[in-house]
Amino acid sequence: MNMRLLIDEKERKYLVKGDCDVHINYGVVSGEELQKTTPGEVLRTHIGNKLNVIEPGIIDFMEKAKRGPQTMAMKDSAIIAGFTGIKSGSRVVDAGAGSGVNAMFLANIVAPEKLICYEIREDFAEIARKNFEKAGIENVAIKLKNIYEGIDEKNIDLISLDVPEPWEAVSPAIESLKIGGYVTSYSPSIEQSKKFYDKLIQSDARFTIETVECLVRNWDLKVVRPFSRMLGHTGFITFARLIGRGT
Ligand SMILES: C[S@@+](CC[C@H](N)C(=O)[O-])C[C@H]1O[C@@H](n2cnc3c(N)ncnc32)[C@H](O)[C@@H]1O
Repeated sequence: MNMRLLIDEKERKYLVKGDCDVHINYGVVSGEELQKTTPGEVLRTHIGNKLNVIEPGIIDFMEKAKRGPQTMAMKDSAIIAGFTGIKSGSRVVDAGAGSGVNAMFLANIVAPEKLICYEIREDFAEIARKNFEKAGIENVAIKLKNIYEGIDEKNIDLISLDVPEPWEAVSPAIESLKIGGYVTSYSPSIEQSKKFYDKLIQSDARFTIETVECLVRNWDLKVVRPFSRMLGHTGFITFARLIGRGT
């Protein structure tokens, strides 16, 4: 059964399988009706509220993914992909997989190449696997392995780190990256970023390094001013590009 995204009149989204009745804030849509529906149609709940039907994309699956540990925000996944220039076929490692939300975004870009995830907790890996399955993402492999102890894959374009001690992954990253490839760290605290930076510059390898914080401010064009509330600090992202091994 194809997944469908239903969007109500208040722009609330419902990601549904369409094989059973769906109860939403404004009534019920029958499974029978959902099975017959195609993207572009407008359904009505039993009390007459309208629902637009579209085919869900990766962003919808990320938004609706089951959460275990804290997930990376979409803006941060986007800037990692954008600033490192990964594309279809890029060789990417993601650690830790956590709920698999950043992995979903990266896997969607590198397909058909397989994204490799490292995760130390089986319970979190299981959440990530379920999220991949629901989104129909097949080009991901999760290794139950501590990334600080080494990265099996070589000639890697991007190693995306969202782990508590990213500096512990610097030596494995140097072994594993291709020249010109990136290791990025996503850390809530600037002290973690500084330790990562220090480890990079103390290593035998040569990196170009930049650290950013990505703030996205939405505007309400009904009143022509920014919304008062925004998603403020999530994490600092350091981009380290390997430009040489050895001194
Ligand atoms: C904040 S979560 C990652 C969330 C993920 N980026 C997402 O968007 O869903 C951090 C994860 O790193 C895992 N982890 C911590 N240390 C690790 C290590 N040394 N190697 C691999 N995974 C690790 C944790 O178990 C946890 O699941």
